[in-house]
Amino acid sequence: MSSQIYRSASKAARSLLSSAKNARFFSEGRTIGAAAAVSASGKIPLYASNFVRSSGSGVASKSWITGLLALPAAAYMIQDQEVLAAEMERTFIAIKPDGVQRGLISEIVSRFERKGFKLVGIKVIVPSKDFAQKHYHDLKERPFFNGLCDFLSSGPVIAMVWEGEGVIRYGRKLIGATDPQKSEPGTIRGDLAVTVGRNIIHGSDGPETAKDEINLWFKPQELVSYTNNSEKWLYGDN
Ligand code: RTP
Ligand code: MG
Repeated sequence: MSSQIYRSASKAARSLLSSAKNARFFSEGRTIGAAAAVSASGKIPLYASNFVRSSGSGVASKSWITGLLALPAAAYMIQDQEVLAAEMERTFIAIKPDGVQRGLISEIVSRFERKGFKLVGIKVIVPSKDFAQKHYHDLKERPFFNGLCDFLSSGPVIAMVWEGEGVIRYGRKLIGATDPQKSEPGTIRGDLAVTVGRNIIHGSDGPETAKDEINLWFKPQELVSYTNNSEKWLYGDN
């Protein structure tokens, strides 16, 4: 049931996007698709049925739109909401100096690309220590902060922005646990790194940090919005 709502909500968000003739609204990590917050318990059948009813129709009905726009308020009022539908979003990913020096750029890019995520910004940059401190500002009280910032600013970093449904959370899954000793095999850190101080990759840990980090590392004009030909094969409901 929850997966049906999840898919339907995701579809609804996409339908709204296309019906607005503006396929991708972005403010780095947050989209109009946030309207698709739903309850796993299925306590909002009205909205679920609105989503289901809209399937197969290229044109969203007025009542459907009204229902969708009312959804965020309804969802917030539900006490046990647990599941956020995947939304089209952007995240900041960086290959740290160790990943670059070890020749892992193409391996890491390939994992995100093969998953189906879309690269919308990329550059090589040697961050200053001051910049590294800004990036890791939330860790400034930690004992490893100084060494971490020294390391991040010690050589070239590949700064990237990746786009896709659920890319913030799923990007973290692709990356694996912070400590490669605890990262599952199959993840980037699990397969390619050994110690926490040299864990080769960074990924934003939530929508707010994604937004802040994208703004820190990229100017808006350095990011590209485009349609990838494979999207019709990546996103679709049956
Ligand atoms: P990141 O920000 O780099 O993606 O890593 P993360 O979210 O998985 O972990 P976070 O807690 O944000 O830590 C940032 C980076 O600090 C280094 N670190 N060293 N005990 C230690 O020595 C230690 N703990 C964390 C890691 O390089 C980690 O990626
Ligand atoms: Mg982090």
